[in-house]
Amino acid sequence: MSSSPLPEAVFAMDPVHLSGLFPAPLMSRLRSLVRIDPGFVARDLADPTLAGTEALITGWGCPPLDEAALAAMPRLRTVLHAAGSVRHLVSDTFWRRGLTISSAAQANALPVAEYTLGAILLAGKDAFTWSRRYQEEHRYPTAADSAALGNHGRRVGVIGASRVGRRVLDLLRPFDLRVALYDPYVTDAAALGAVPLPLDDLLRGSDIITLHAPDTPETHRMLDRDRLALIPDGGVLINTARGNLIDHDALTDELASGRISAVLDVTVPEPLPAGHPLYGLPNVFLTPHIAGSLGNELERLGRCVVEELERFTAGLPLAHQVRPVDLATSA
Ligand SMILES: NC(=O)c1ccc[n+]([C@@H]2O[C@H](COP(=O)([O-])OP(=O)(O)OC[C@H]3O[C@@H](n4cnc5c(N)ncnc54)[C@H](O)[C@@H]3O)[C@@H](O)[C@H]2O)c1
Repeated sequence: MSSSPLPEAVFAMDPVHLSGLFPAPLMSRLRSLVRIDPGFVARDLADPTLAGTEALITGWGCPPLDEAALAAMPRLRTVLHAAGSVRHLVSDTFWRRGLTISSAAQANALPVAEYTLGAILLAGKDAFTWSRRYQEEHRYPTAADSAALGNHGRRVGVIGASRVGRRVLDLLRPFDLRVALYDPYVTDAAALGAVPLPLDDLLRGSDIITLHAPDTPETHRMLDRDRLALIPDGGVLINTARGNLIDHDALTDELASGRISAVLDVTVPEPLPAGHPLYGLPNVFLTPHIAGSLGNELERLGRCVVEELERFTAGLPLAHQVRPVDLATSA
């Protein structure tokens, strides 16, 4: 009895990510599920050699699945994205074809949440400032310096119970923090370990605010000049979401005044140009968009895709399928 051939799959991404996403054991698991050339990464999706592709395994750097690409892959049934947002990949034509697409955003949420937890706890001790001051002043904080420091009862405001936001809320549970949540789509904040608050009240009533909403028309500059002014003096704003959520001119002004501090993994623009005022401010802890998966964290995204491929080849529904309706309120 002859068994049916394995479906044909192709990688499409910036090739630099391939070995991190699919280390050898994961690559062999993947190759047991589909016919795929592990040494080939498509860069031009309109390439006629892709005609037999049934599953496309994408990652950062994959070009959009536009009409030319979709026309070149008439047998395509599913796209499994070994990264976060699929917004830039899909189009009306994609949805009209009835193709499925899934994202590894759930797996990518974990390192962002871990980064955020670290930032919150260090911000509670004002460790970013004291690291610099120790190097410059070679002294310990006095009792007066440290009176307002510490993580006992610190008020943390979470904006967005997204995949990242929910993981942050989970990670915050063991600590003696008072956690509030703003998310217009959530009705069960208490079950998530937080007190629900309108956005302005959350900003007014938090010592540390952490942004986890997606970048959508609704969230564009949700922290404008007036809202930034609501953050109490000495407050800390953490942004690992997207720079577009904040008015950056207003943020730069607030930070330059020294009234508040920030931990920023994302900005507008990215990267910031040389000489940008945010580089020089002592109350700004800047990182170059590293909160999401990198290095040894990439493998989780690859594993998420291999598990999706197992479901796809078994005829089961995808676990992380993205539908057009999701895109209005998700990353
Ligand atoms: N820094 C990084 O490396 C990195 C990595 C991954 C994700 N991100 C960013 O983190 C953020 C969260 O990503 P995700 O995949 O968890 O998002 P997600 O797609 O899970 O977010 C969707 C949820 O956000 C909430 N939301 C929607 N609109 C909102 C609004 N107006 N106000 C408050 N909450 C709202 C809703 O609960 C919605 O279900 C995104 O901005 C994403 O781009 C950054």
